[in-house]
Amino acid sequence: MEKRLIWDLPTRLFHWLLVITLIVQYVTAEVLDDAMQWHFYAGYFALGLILFRILWGLAGTDYARFSHFVKGPVTVLRYACNLFNRDSPAHTGHNPLGGWMVILMLALIATQAVSGLFLTDDVFLDGPYRSAVSEATQDTMNFLHHNVFNVLLALIALHIAAIIFYAIYKKQRLAPSMIHGKKATEDKAISSSKLLLAALLIALSAATVYYAVEIAPPAPVDDGAYY
Ligand code: HEM
Ligand code: HEM
Repeated sequence: MEKRLIWDLPTRLFHWLLVITLIVQYVTAEVLDDAMQWHFYAGYFALGLILFRILWGLAGTDYARFSHFVKGPVTVLRYACNLFNRDSPAHTGHNPLGGWMVILMLALIATQAVSGLFLTDDVFLDGPYRSAVSEATQDTMNFLHHNVFNVLLALIALHIAAIIFYAIYKKQRLAPSMIHGKKATEDKAISSSKLLLAALLIALSAATVYYAVEIAPPAPVDDGAYY
């Protein structure tokens, strides 16, 4: 079978930048002392990545679109019943189960990044929307930020386990295609990575995040404690 381009460059860059960002988020929150400012910056970057991926899921190349990989329950169930069949045919884009896994990961990472905007490190730094909400909302966001990450870790472990399962059990090596973008398939290749559109959507995502964290938030409440 011929190797054809199916994952465009923006989707691949998105994936590996997301992996790096989540590692940075973990390290700046749990390992390093005094790295909270970097945790905030990387968190804003994560927000931008997710925003871009949502836009790309609507307007990007064929296999990256939600309409291509978000399937109904019957298709998902039928696929799940065949999961342990070694000879079930490979999917060119995300398979029906994997598609929902992608949605779930994106939703949880979005929840993690948005809830961070309402947190404080209890020392110097407040997320940009902390003073805009009630104490009850702050508590909810705090709860989400501390607990969603553990669910996310479990999903990431499952995600990597699935990649290994496909490689060993089904002899389908998915990881290289997330690097070079190509897969052996009879389905049609994407004709281009739509780089100009991607650049526009990246600029739009970056501007939206800048507006949301730098311009829109209310001025922090000064409780006068350090005067
Ligand atoms: C922090 C860790 C990770 C996160 C949050 C993550 C998240 C994701 C997301 C959101 C997608 C969907 C891509 C898209 O359509 O935009 C995806 C796909 C994919 N990821 Fe990861 N990933 C992680 C680590 C890894 C690692 C370490 C590998 C390689 C061993 C990997 C291999 C893949 C592959 C091969 C796909 C495409 C699967 C398919 O063919 O359907 N990921 N990942
Ligand atoms: C995807 C993005 C993010 C990830 C994966 C992430 C992850 C984490 C993790 C794992 C912790 C440690 C939680 C614990 O000790 O139980 C943490 C703490 C924290 N994060 Fe994030 N975070 C993200 C985005 C943000 C953003 C955007 C902000 C603020 C603008 C933020 C602010 C904070 C603060 C202030 C803490 C310390 C909370 C405390 O000490 O109780 N985070 N984050």
